[in-house]
Amino acid sequence: MHNIEVKASSGSYPIYIKNGLLGEIGVEIKKIYKGSRIAVVTDSNVDEFYGQKTINSLKESGFETFKIVVKAGEESKSFKTLLEVYDKLLDFKINRGDIIIALGGGVVGDMAGFAASTFLRGISLIQIPTTLLAQVDSSVGGKVAVDLPRGKNLVGSFYMPKAVFIDPLLLRTLNDKYLNDGMGEVIKYGAIKDSELFNTLMKYENKEALLSQIDKIIFTCCSIKANIVELDEKDTGERMLLNYGHTIGHAIEQFFNFTKYSHGEAVAMGMYSITKLGEELGLTKIGTSIAIKDILIKYNLPWELPEIRTQAIIETISHDKKNIGGSMNLILIESIGNSFIEKIDKTKIENYLHKIIK
Ligand SMILES: NC(=O)c1ccc[n+]([C@@H]2O[C@H](COP(=O)([O-])OP(=O)(O)OC[C@H]3O[C@@H](n4cnc5c(N)ncnc54)[C@H](O)[C@@H]3O)[C@@H](O)[C@H]2O)c1
Repeated sequence: MHNIEVKASSGSYPIYIKNGLLGEIGVEIKKIYKGSRIAVVTDSNVDEFYGQKTINSLKESGFETFKIVVKAGEESKSFKTLLEVYDKLLDFKINRGDIIIALGGGVVGDMAGFAASTFLRGISLIQIPTTLLAQVDSSVGGKVAVDLPRGKNLVGSFYMPKAVFIDPLLLRTLNDKYLNDGMGEVIKYGAIKDSELFNTLMKYENKEALLSQIDKIIFTCCSIKANIVELDEKDTGERMLLNYGHTIGHAIEQFFNFTKYSHGEAVAMGMYSITKLGEELGLTKIGTSIAIKDILIKYNLPWELPEIRTQAIIETISHDKKNIGGSMNLILIESIGNSFIEKIDKTKIENYLHKIIK
């Protein structure tokens, strides 16, 4: 088992990573939770694959369990679903001494995490992430949220889990679209902090080769994220490095109303274009954008920006919270594995975007 301890101001919490961990989840939770009642929140797809297995393991360890299944998909990260979840928690008479398990991808993690952070002013939360994105990113760092009709993640909080249990074998049932999507984030970690990870990712010949090593990759990514989050829990400095590729990526997602491109795909295009900009500004080693492009192609992720109104992208970027006056903080890489934050004049960004967008 790989262990990572994430130090947070509210206390530290462990991330456990082990193939087959879900089958032993009852025994593992027994070691860290002395109560007897557990509410498991999951989505309809994950429930089909892993709902019963989770409940069985918890029951074998003597826990009384309650299962709440929401519809799979981003639309469940809503107040409507949240109210349904609160309602079930009340039906089950869940109280502050009990725990909530979020079993699922980023949607369940964020929504059930927000439910845990708010129900009865906060109930202990355990994350069992089941997508690659959730295993390397959303389950680590304590950000939980729901969407509003006017935008994603607009209501949320920072709420550290009691523990995160990662079973990489769960990724075997994930379809390729979501696996590639998560690889976008994995590639990001290599690009911003770890050239060795980046080079290793370039070497895998096929999906099987990748999956055979995915536990180690997840460990590396979680370690990078944990280090960054420890330095900057509330997202005001160092944590911004995690947004590499996200400024332009978010603008693309938003422009297409979150329908055309997945998060990983949008970030992929964002990583390539921002690296190319870095090269043009003389801040990034020439050839770095080609390395990014090559790895994105290898993992079936797009790199070239789509046809899009340049002005719309510029406006979205300008409204981004990282924007300050006539310049913007952008996350650039000097070379693979070395990232930094740079304040860049907005007109330079605009000129560049006009040049590269069709
Ligand atoms: N909190 C954070 O720091 C953070 C960071 C990044 C993204 N997010 C959020 O994460 C969400 C996206 O998460 P996601 O990409 O995991 O999407 P998701 O949770 O919708 O999962 C993707 C799909 O895969 C299915 N699935 C999940 N695990 C499976 C498995 N093991 N086998 C088969 N199918 C499985 C789900 O049912 C769903 O249909 C977004 O809402 C985003 O805002 C949060």
